Amino acid sequence: MKVLIVGSGGREHAIAWSVAKSEKVDKIYCAPGNAGIAEYAACVDIAAMEFEKLAAFAKEENIDLTIVGMDDPLVGGIVDVFEREGLRIFGPRKNAAILEGSKAFSKDLMKKYNIPTAGYENFTDADAAMAYLEKAKFPIVLKADGLALGKGVLICNTLEEAKDGVRSIMMDKQFGTAGNCMVIEEFMTGREVSVLSFVDGKTVKTMTSAQDHKRAKDGDKGLNTGGMGTFSPSPFYTKEVEAFCEKHIFQPTVDAMRAEGREFKGIIFFGLMLTEDGPKVLEYNARFGDPEAQVVLPRMKTDIIDVVEACIDGTLDEVNLEFEDNAAVCVVLASDGYPVKYEKGYPIEGLEKFKDQDGYYCFHAGTKFQDGKIVTNGGRVLGITAKGADLKEARKNAYAATEWVQFANKYKRNDIGKAIDEA
Ligand code: AMP
Ligand code: GLY
Repeated sequence: MKVLIVGSGGREHAIAWSVAKSEKVDKIYCAPGNAGIAEYAACVDIAAMEFEKLAAFAKEENIDLTIVGMDDPLVGGIVDVFEREGLRIFGPRKNAAILEGSKAFSKDLMKKYNIPTAGYENFTDADAAMAYLEKAKFPIVLKADGLALGKGVLICNTLEEAKDGVRSIMMDKQFGTAGNCMVIEEFMTGREVSVLSFVDGKTVKTMTSAQDHKRAKDGDKGLNTGGMGTFSPSPFYTKEVEAFCEKHIFQPTVDAMRAEGREFKGIIFFGLMLTEDGPKVLEYNARFGDPEAQVVLPRMKTDIIDVVEACIDGTLDEVNLEFEDNAAVCVVLASDGYPVKYEKGYPIEGLEKFKDQDGYYCFHAGTKFQDGKIVTNGGRVLGITAKGADLKEARKNAYAATEWVQFANKYKRNDIGKAIDEA
């Protein structure tokens, strides 16, 4: 079969690698793709938000299945456009992708269906938000309602900071229309865990757990980024925690979406915090995590095409979703200065070392071809993933492999997976 992948980051590279392993697949296309994805897929110069062009391409090339990696096209309704054209596509429709696309929607859903999450209020009026803050407890968390590249969350320690936050989100529109509405929620503490799951509208099957590192600098300092590294599984996601989440979070979320007439098919990424009062939902995403996919997919034993097709067909209950009994760590190699200001266009050396190295992967996030060479083309450049028998071994292997590649302004965190030592 012919598969089209929509996106251009490390997550889409991991998806392409996973799809390429399937014996059912003859040809892979990726729009727009990157220099690493080009190893498995023919990259097509159509942007992820050009739905009509993508659908026309899929028709012309007789694409059997399209897999969407990114949030913006899903929230924008790419699945509805493809379905209208009679094309097979994996992901939630627009009315279900709102689970990620509107934080106010997802908070109201959790409240209505008693799914554990931080206490909150939604606001569409800046004055009302300011008045609420006068009586609030600090720290407090402000969230722009819409998509904001993972940056629309502000943790404020004082009333002054929070008021500045309301001003920048709702009045100065720092995150654009994403800030037309805002959630103000209770600050929680605890370990964070990412649990990704496949969903077919009724059945939910979770993948192995992972943990991201969102801040730019060691010790969880610096600005929030798209994610600087991950490990999988999370030692804090115990059997007891899993059992609680299955009963109170995972299935209830899928059932709630169905009850609302917003049947969800695709990936639900549960961003969880393990608080003293039990696991609570921090956020939902409607897609694979990036860089969670880079540690979860290399450990997946089940053919990704089988699972994805079962989600579309509503037969996920018949799939045996299996993961390897090992561990993986991904360390992101970024351009120094990310996520604010960084230079691009530097040649990358040493990529060939990953060829035929079992258990080591170099997923491209921001790269492109220039004059026959692969050069840096983004804030996050590469995700270096390695497997190991356990988390410590995987971490050692991943950090060793970060030395195999060189480029000017290479930057990484040195403490990815530090939490493993506290487990
Ligand atoms: P989100 O995009 O909602 O996952 O938020 C980004 C990050 O902000 C999360 O990964 C948490 O580290 C932090 N965060 C979000 N909501 C809260 C909360 N209610 N309490 C504490 N930290 C939070
Ligand atoms: N790594 C977090 C995300 O993909 O949203």
